[in-house]
Amino acid sequence: MFDANSWITPYLESIFSDLPANDTVKDAAAYSLFAGGKRIRPALMYASALALKDFGVEDTLIAPFAASLEMIHTYSLIHDDLPAMDDDDLRRGRPTCHVQYGEAIAILAGDMLLNSAHEELLKQSIKGTEYATAAHNISRLAGIHGMIGGQSIDIINEGKKIDIDTLYELQEKKTGALIEAAVTTPFFFSNCQADVYSLLKEYAAHLGLAFQIKDDILDVEADESLLGKSTGKDERDNKPTFVTLLGIDNARIKLSEEEQGCYKALELLSEMGLNVTMLHELAEFTIKRNY
Ligand code: IPE
Ligand code: IPE
Ligand code: MG
Ligand code: MG
Ligand code: MG
Repeated sequence: MFDANSWITPYLESIFSDLPANDTVKDAAAYSLFAGGKRIRPALMYASALALKDFGVEDTLIAPFAASLEMIHTYSLIHDDLPAMDDDDLRRGRPTCHVQYGEAIAILAGDMLLNSAHEELLKQSIKGTEYATAAHNISRLAGIHGMIGGQSIDIINEGKKIDIDTLYELQEKKTGALIEAAVTTPFFFSNCQADVYSLLKEYAAHLGLAFQIKDDILDVEADESLLGKSTGKDERDNKPTFVTLLGIDNARIKLSEEEQGCYKALELLSEMGLNVTMLHELAEFTIKRNY
C-alpha cells in the first residue's frame, strides 16, 4: 500500500527546518508530530487527489494542505491527552507530550502546530482562488463547525447519557470533520462538478463514522502495545461512544453498515470516471486495522 509517511514526513520536516533551532516548544511539537502515527488523513488526501488525477489534480499541489491537516490533527491529539481533557499518558507509542514536556509546554506545542498549519495554509491561499477555497475548507472543518465543535460535545457530555443523534453529531464533528477535509480538499483543484463533491463528502461521512466506531471498539479490545495508546479509557471516563451507547455487537453492525456506505459512494464515483482504488483500500484499512 502507498506509504503516506514517506510522502508527507519530508514536507513536515522542511516546515520544521525553518523554525528556530533551540526552542523547547518546537521540540515538543516535533516529538509528537514525528512519533509515527498512521498518517491516514494525508493518505486520504493523496488518494482523493489520485482519484481526481484525470480531472486536473496533481498530488504535489496538495502536499502543503496534507501537511497542514496532519499538524492540526497532531495538535488536537496533544490537547486531547491533557489532564484537563482525556488525561492520557501514552500516544503514538510514546509518553504523551505533557508527560514528556510538562503541561504548559504541551499546550504551547499544540498552539504552535495549529498556528504553523494556518501559516502554511495562508501561504498557499495567495496563489489563487482554488488555493484559498481549499485552505478555508480545512480551516472551517478544524474549528467550531468541525473538530473543536465535536470535542466540545465530547467533553460537555462526559459521564452523561446522550441520545444517539447527539452521539452522531459528536462523532461527525470530532473525527468526521478532519476526514472530510482530507477527502474533499483536492476537489477544489479539479474541474469536476458539484455532484462529485457531494459523493466525496458522502464517502468521507461514512468513513469518518467507521473510523471513530473502530476507534471506540479498539479502546475496548486492542492490544495496547500495538495501538500505541492506552485502552479502556472511554469506560474509565464514562465517555459516550458507540460501544458504551450501543454495545460492542451493535457497534460492529454499525461499522459494517458504514463500510458498505463507503463502497456505495465509491461505486458511483467510479462510474463518473474517478480512479477510486486507493480510496477503497483506505476504507478497508480503516475497518480492518488493529492499531
Ligand atoms: C486518533 O486518530 C484520534 C481519532 C480521531 C480517533 P488516529 O487514529 O488517526 O491517530 P494517529 O494519527 O494514527 O496517531
Ligand atoms: C479524539 O477522540 C479526537 C480528536 C479530535 C483528538 P478520542 O479521545 O477518542 O481519541 P483517542 O482515543 O484519545 O485517540
Ligand atoms: Mg477525547
Ligand atoms: Mg482521547
Ligand atoms: Mg478514542
